[in-house]
Amino acid sequence: MASNDLANETRAVYDSIHVEYANNPDILNRIRSLITPQSLGLPDDYFVGKVCADLGCGSAVPGTCNLLDLGAKYVHAMDVNESFVPTAKQVLEREPAFNERWQLDIGTVEELPYENDTFDFVLCQGVIHSVDNDLTALREISRVLKKGGMANIMVLGKGGLMTRIGMETMRDEYRANSMFKALVDQDMTPDWIRQQFDWLIGQMDDDGTESYKKCVTLLECLRDLLDQDFILTLRDRMQTPKYLTYTLEEMEELLRSADFTSWRRLARKPTYRNVRKVLAPLYHEYDSPLAKLMYGEGSLILIATK
Ligand SMILES: C[S@@+](CC[C@H](N)C(=O)[O-])C[C@H]1O[C@@H](n2cnc3c(N)ncnc32)[C@H](O)[C@@H]1O
Repeated sequence: MASNDLANETRAVYDSIHVEYANNPDILNRIRSLITPQSLGLPDDYFVGKVCADLGCGSAVPGTCNLLDLGAKYVHAMDVNESFVPTAKQVLEREPAFNERWQLDIGTVEELPYENDTFDFVLCQGVIHSVDNDLTALREISRVLKKGGMANIMVLGKGGLMTRIGMETMRDEYRANSMFKALVDQDMTPDWIRQQFDWLIGQMDDDGTESYKKCVTLLECLRDLLDQDFILTLRDRMQTPKYLTYTLEEMEELLRSADFTSWRRLARKPTYRNVRKVLAPLYHEYDSPLAKLMYGEGSLILIATK
């Protein structure tokens, strides 16, 4: 199935990020356990016997692993071109329990290579905000779901200081400032970050005060908490060619137009080992005043029923 230029360009960005995910057990374990029946508000054995699709599955196929771990009968893992296949195969073939329960398909979420009413459950995480036509994609997801089937869709919410700094100011800067672009694209490594913080600590005047000691501790902590997982998140946010953000109302209107009959918003508290540990409560408590100030709408994780 042919995909468009935007999809292929997006795929190229993600392949290099996902290959690193696939080879980093800490990151892979974190992202392959984001979905739990409890967090979806579903019974513990919901996935047992279910035919699922992971659309825009990525090369590290964390969602596919997650669904198979939860007992899915069969998962179609789909992405836009063959670049994801070698890494996806390598990850899935590591698990004997997954044998004969998955297949890798090539296609675009805007024109799915599946019959109507095929799936009990569709996972589409971090994809809709980067495609040419989000409504077309959601209509396709609805089309391939069985009546009563469910889709778990995640897109980035709009607004908030952190989101606007990252998704507006920094994305603009990445495109306008070749030094920042080079940093994000290749030069930034945990070692580079360590060197910058150590240099800064060395430049501060030791005036013997408590405030000096606390500033050193702060910089030492930050130095140790900006790891490769953090750098890959930064690359994701900066390099992806198109990255829309949505209000909840905008997403709800899209789901309605795509013929979903009902939906709920979900909250997740991912387990990070880096500086994002500080932010995890804000992702979960997305309605709290601090979360609203920092993240506006927050991550929009929706479960929609056909
Ligand atoms: C942020 S990654 C998410 C990967 C995976 N879903 C996850 O949760 O880790 C976005 C993925 O969407 C894929 N993608 C981009 N445009 C697409 C399209 N039109 N159809 C299907 N997948 C697409 C990219 O190739 C990439 O692998």
